Amino acid sequence: MNSALDITALQQAVAAPSFVRNHKLLTWVAEMASLAKPERIYWCDGSEEESARLCEEMVAKGTLIRLNSEKRPNSFLARSDASDVARVEDRTFICCEKKDDAGSTNNWMAPAEMRQTLDGLFDGCMRGRTMYVMPFSMGPLGSHISHIGVEISDSAYVVVNMKVMTRMGRPVYDLLNESEDFVPAMHTVGAPLAAGQADVAWPCNADTKYIVHFPETREIWSYGSGYGGNALLGKKCFALRIASTMGRDQGWLAEHMLILGVESPEGEKSYVAAAFPSACGKTNFAMLIPPKALKGWKISTLGDDIAWIKPGPDGRLYAINPESGYFGVAPGTSEVSNPNAMATLKKNIIFTNVALTDHGDVWWEGMTGEKPAHLIDWQGKDWTPDCGSKAAHPNARFTAPASQCPSLDDDWENPKGVPIAAFIFGGRRSGVMPLVHEAVDWRQGVYMAATMGSETTAAAAGAVGQTRRDPFAMLPFCGYNMADYFQHWLDMGERVAHPPKIFGVNWFRTDENGKFLWPGFGDNMRVLKWIVSRVSGHANGHHTPIGWMPSYEDIDWTGIDMSRELFERITSLDPAQWREELASHGELFDKLKERLPRSFRIRQEQLAQAFGA
Ligand code: OXD
Ligand code: MN
Repeated sequence: MNSALDITALQQAVAAPSFVRNHKLLTWVAEMASLAKPERIYWCDGSEEESARLCEEMVAKGTLIRLNSEKRPNSFLARSDASDVARVEDRTFICCEKKDDAGSTNNWMAPAEMRQTLDGLFDGCMRGRTMYVMPFSMGPLGSHISHIGVEISDSAYVVVNMKVMTRMGRPVYDLLNESEDFVPAMHTVGAPLAAGQADVAWPCNADTKYIVHFPETREIWSYGSGYGGNALLGKKCFALRIASTMGRDQGWLAEHMLILGVESPEGEKSYVAAAFPSACGKTNFAMLIPPKALKGWKISTLGDDIAWIKPGPDGRLYAINPESGYFGVAPGTSEVSNPNAMATLKKNIIFTNVALTDHGDVWWEGMTGEKPAHLIDWQGKDWTPDCGSKAAHPNARFTAPASQCPSLDDDWENPKGVPIAAFIFGGRRSGVMPLVHEAVDWRQGVYMAATMGSETTAAAAGAVGQTRRDPFAMLPFCGYNMADYFQHWLDMGERVAHPPKIFGVNWFRTDENGKFLWPGFGDNMRVLKWIVSRVSGHANGHHTPIGWMPSYEDIDWTGIDMSRELFERITSLDPAQWREELASHGELFDKLKERLPRSFRIRQEQLAQAFGA
């Protein structure tokens, strides 16, 4: 037991307020402060006043630009350094003791070696800066599905984003006084200031970046970037990479999934969780508005990016959204693609790397049909429609409170979570995958999700437009060996009495000219209707080698002109394409080798035979 005296001495050493009494937290902050050597320590309370004050300070420094208060009240624009615009997958490490436990799809370094590297990098990394301490809950406070983290950062931009994206601040200290169980997450922009040195608007380290996870000790260390998932450590680092290993050990799932509610005209409500790789329109799908012609169908939003899913006492899987905000891709978001997002973005928003209009508002590619005649682009330069460059960075983002979303589900903060009726998996595929199909059972569904592929976009640094295998949309986010993760999914299906049904979708089939064949957006409701009707036993399907698929008659086409011929084109299974597809499943399996579940090779063989290989 630690004496009151110990606690008081520790509090004094790290300038902690009296309500912070967690010994482990105080000790950790003291250690981190002696390593990073900040000018001062600030304990965040998560209040509106605190956030407003930090925003003012950042406006004064040039990190934020206040937008026109009439057009976009209480909203700001940040422009990042041009070297710091996306997650850095090649600098992301899983440091467990055994290399095989990280698996061949993750970068690995031995923990001792990485710790030595980090010790060197973090020594004095916060000189001249403030060290902010942010306690946060991923998930509703006190829910048995939620978990707590504490992020330390030298970036005020991170603080104001974490306030939106997580439940951050005072109430979490109170929870921490009852339990020592939290994930420590240490972040620095990696740009110490020498005495008298002037700061820049977006400090970061252009040369050195490390996003490091120690799954065995459940720690996160992030160096050199101030952007998104590299710096807001509750999101990809904790809620996916560390949480996926917690889920493996404790019997639950941490997934890269949106969660939405579907209500039928009869008032029957089901929830589905859907996994799509980055930048496949997850936020649009999560906030979908059904076509008017499908009278009485309603969609509500629980989350747009991450789901934590635990077995419930009734043998079903229950999900929460661990986040409390959206860190969404701005380009492509419009009144056509996502009116709910546009309504969410009306006030209290932090925009990053979008363009600034002459009226002090924001703009990005795809926001309006017509381009403004003049803008200031994401790098602060004059922009005109004919200048040949993009006004907003393709990975420009908005940080928006979930509470502002018009389609927010009534149960989004329910500590019990919501029961999941179906899982949906979808990638961006110009061919091969049909509009929708249903796995005949859990095992075949796991195979389908494990072999998902997607054509890459700008959400991550690297080549754009190539198809990469992205199992469960978790390739960059699984904190352990992907083959063990597949086995964990197979085991979860056995563990619960009523596992959800599993579906695959593809909104992205194109014609020979690269034009999308499926209208997408609100019309995806037609597919969702088939999915939830399959779950409740009210829709037909026919059997195919990859599972059940709807015939033309099984989808509700009210209010849309969809020919039978076009439907056949977006649902066809081309044997030659599938033979190629199955061969490339083999490339993934070869990488995962001996830990791959045995049933996968059997299923691959079964499919190959069905497609005439
Ligand atoms: C994201 C991503 O930022 O998946 O959500 O890249
Ligand atoms: Mn994501």
